[in-house]
Amino acid sequence: MHSIIVFASGAGSNAQAIINYLKQHPIAKVSLIVCNKPNAGVLDIAAAENIPTLLIDKTSFQDAVFITTLAQYQPSLIVLAGFLWKIPDGVVQFFSNKIINIHPSLLPKYGGKNMYGQRVHQAVIAANEKASGITIHYVNEVYDEGEIIVQAHCSVLADDTPETLAQRVHQLEHYYFPRTLHFLLEQYKS
Ligand code: GRF
Repeated sequence: MHSIIVFASGAGSNAQAIINYLKQHPIAKVSLIVCNKPNAGVLDIAAAENIPTLLIDKTSFQDAVFITTLAQYQPSLIVLAGFLWKIPDGVVQFFSNKIINIHPSLLPKYGGKNMYGQRVHQAVIAANEKASGITIHYVNEVYDEGEIIVQAHCSVLADDTPETLAQRVHQLEHYYFPRTLHFLLEQYKS
């Protein structure tokens, strides 16, 4: 059974989708959820699912001990599901090609520092884009620039608001993220 670590600091709907999927397809278990917001919804999900959590601050995030702690869980993948801090280079290098992020746009468009959440969807609508979607990619040392694994598209409708577009994008995320992780895990030996 593979171990995966999820980094999340938001509502946690992607974390929940991954957990639910893995109940049906027990190829891996979420062995730890790392979070930087003490009031994040994802912590309630972790409690309900009996998954250990690690609450970090900027100092512990940069500390070499953080890498040792993560390594103890022997993760096949580290999955960023709504985690905004830039991953320290030491962590990226230690877990080379094992850290996966999901971004709510078709990268390279609407990515980079400060492009997250509703800002992404606002920018897509303001630019009159006809399509948006999601990008699942490896994490390297530069925000949103690691190698792309999968993209999925959806329409942007004439009367979309950032909220309605976000809903459509979230549906893509919840479907494709767990299935992409499953595909990647099958490439590794456990
Ligand atoms: C998702 O839209 C994801 O693409 C982005 O952050 C959001 C997290 O949502 N990186 P949730 O916390 O999983 O509901």
